[in-house]
This record gives sequence, C-alpha cells and structure tokens, in this order.
Amino acid sequence: MICSPSFLSCNFNKLESEIKSVSISKWLHFDVMDGKFVNNSTYDYNMVKLLKHISNQFFDVHLMIEKPERIYDKYIIAGADLITFHYEATKQPKALIRAIKSKGVKVGLSIKPGTDITAIESLLPKLDLVLVMSVVPGKGGQKFIENSLDKIKYLEDKRTVNGYNYLIEVDGGINFETAKQVKNAGCDVIVAGSFIFNSNEREQLIVRLENV
Ligand code: DX5
Ligand code: ZN
Repeated sequence: MICSPSFLSCNFNKLESEIKSVSISKWLHFDVMDGKFVNNSTYDYNMVKLLKHISNQFFDVHLMIEKPERIYDKYIIAGADLITFHYEATKQPKALIRAIKSKGVKVGLSIKPGTDITAIESLLPKLDLVLVMSVVPGKGGQKFIENSLDKIKYLEDKRTVNGYNYLIEVDGGINFETAKQVKNAGCDVIVAGSFIFNSNEREQLIVRLENV
C-alpha cells in the first residue's frame, strides 16, 4: 500500500522539519476543513502553495468543505495533484468530477462513515480514487470504525467486476492492526496522522505501514 501521512497532528511551529520527517512517503495528505462541513477549521490552498517549496511528494488534498465547486480551482493552481471532495458537500458531484478532471488533476470522492456506499455507485466509473472515511471527519486521533471494511470490500468487488480504475483510500484510525485489516479488504492507500506524528521513528513506521 501507499501511505499518505496527514500532518494535521504535526507541530506547526516547526512545519518544515515535520514535513521533511515524512518525506520518505510518495504521498502527502492535506486535511482541509472549513468549520462548516465539519466543526473544525484547518488551513486552505495557501498551505498547498507553501509546501510546494519544501516537498515534491504527490499532493493528496482532502477537502472537508461545503460547496467545494466554489473554490477547488484555487487548490489546482496551488499545486494539488489529487483533489478529493465529499459526496455530502455538494449537489453537483458529477459536474465537479468532470471539472476537476478537465484541469488535468486526479479526482477523488469521499464519503462519511454514515453514508451508504451504494449512493456513489453511478459515479464510480469516472473516479481516480474513492476515499472511505473510517472516522467521523473533523479531527485526528479517533478510533477506526469497523463498518469501513465492508465499504472497502464493496469497492474492491465493483472494481474487479466492472474493470474500474480507481484507487481505494482509507482515512482515520490507522495503525498496524487496522492497516492490515484494510489491506486485506482491498485498500491501496492509507492515510495516517496521529500514529505517525506521535512517533519518533517516522520513516521506519511508514515503511512498516506500507508493508503490513
Ligand atoms: C479526519 C481527517 C484524517 C485524520 C487522520 O477528519 O481526515 O486525515 O486526521 O488522523 P488519524 O490518523 O489520527 O486518525
Ligand atoms: Zn483526510
């Protein structure tokens, strides 16, 4: 699997060295929160712009914001490689998928733990990635929600049967144990935040997570 570190729980007072401490991973996960779609707010496209100067990782941008269609293009200009928005946050998921792809970046769709996976079935053929939230979005350090495993299996099954191309990404509550579980269910990309940033041996931990 690919590990995409979420630096949400890093020490922002020494951001540059924190980002460099996880540069062994190919991907870097941005948790963008607007205080509306979720209670907390974090950072915006300026963070993407800023980190472009210190990282050449694949920028995996997770928009936890209302009406992402209003602002997604700013993230593309800032240097996002993949933009994932929430199915629950927009009335026009199909148009937004098309718009993001037309700008030459990858597009992902995410669903909250309470959303039925079959709700996005008709959108699957168009996606580069599906992000299964395995915690309620809004903060790091929560416990993995078990029913996420069924959603991953559903996505893996649909992909095999229909020949779809999306990656399956899982976000929230990842540690060695849950990483193994999601891998067995068919996951390709794991997002890990507190598990990595609470450790002093981050490189080793990322390698172990990718090879559970
Ligand atoms: C939750 C975020 C996640 C989360 C991951 O809203 O999308 O990326 O912070 O953090 P951990 O790994 O601590 O659950
Ligand atoms: Zn995330």
